[in-house]
Amino acid sequence: MSSLFNKSLSLSKDLTVTDEEFVQLRDFIYQQSGIFIAANRKYLVESRLSNRIKDLNLKSFGEYYYFLRFDANCKEELAKLFEVITTNETSFYRNPPQLKVFQEKILPVTLDEIKKKGPKKLRIWSAGCSTGEEPYTLAMILHEVLKTELPTWDIKITANDLSEAVLKAARMGRYNEYALRTTPKEIIDKYFIKKDQAYDVQPKLKNLITFAPINLSDRLMLKRNERSHIIFCRNVIIYFDDEMKKQVIESFYDNLLPGGCMLIGHSESLHNISRTFKPEHHVGTIVYRKQA
Ligand SMILES: C[S@@+](CC[C@H](N)C(=O)[O-])C[C@H]1O[C@@H](n2cnc3c(N)ncnc32)[C@H](O)[C@@H]1O
Repeated sequence: MSSLFNKSLSLSKDLTVTDEEFVQLRDFIYQQSGIFIAANRKYLVESRLSNRIKDLNLKSFGEYYYFLRFDANCKEELAKLFEVITTNETSFYRNPPQLKVFQEKILPVTLDEIKKKGPKKLRIWSAGCSTGEEPYTLAMILHEVLKTELPTWDIKITANDLSEAVLKAARMGRYNEYALRTTPKEIIDKYFIKKDQAYDVQPKLKNLITFAPINLSDRLMLKRNERSHIIFCRNVIIYFDDEMKKQVIESFYDNLLPGGCMLIGHSESLHNISRTFKPEHHVGTIVYRKQA
């Protein structure tokens, strides 16, 4: 998380979660989002949910669980729960070696293939986009590769996240210097408008992206997404257990057009998760390809 978006997390926790309350909340969070919190991360539930309990004037994690299940405002509270329970760490040009492969190999080949077949229409999906740095980076790379040819293409980057709060920050497109720590200077000069200490992304990047909420654990919701040539889902499935990873990766496979590909985070792997993709080994990254 490195836009001007600020998630206020209380690290001082004076409320303690019992084992029973932890299991109830952990299972509820898993059912609602696919996010799995292991027993050794119980402290996470305590530190991240304490403020919610205080704000609602509740007395315990047990009361909070009942609020989430049965209160008239449970839908609004669920959105707040997603906001505090997700980890939104991101930055522009995250994982440069992978993006180099995308810019120099994957994207040019994909564009050529599309041109050979018919209309110049490209669809990219950034699933778990957090505060927007990833889809905006992809938009910059598209500009870098297509240059003056870009207006002749019909391009849409669909950027989704579970947390409405990060999507709001993403739509605003205003960042601080820290978000740009791995971004080349010439790219910053080209694609941002600097205002005092803030950096605003240029409208020509915003025009390529549609931000919308999604819950990756909801199969039907994923089915409704337009089919993609390329999917970026980086540093997201790391928060799921194997069962949920399998379900989400299967949905991505179904969503991809024949010959399309998927990129995941550098610490993530499809080992024991999926055999349907064909892994392509490049220097700095593995690209997972759906058969043409
Ligand atoms: C660590 S960030 C990764 C951001 C970006 N992809 C990157 O690599 O920099 C993980 C994002 O996944 C989102 N996320 C977690 N579970 C999700 C779910 N079930 N559905 C949609 N997004 C989810 C979180 O809200 C968070 O913003």
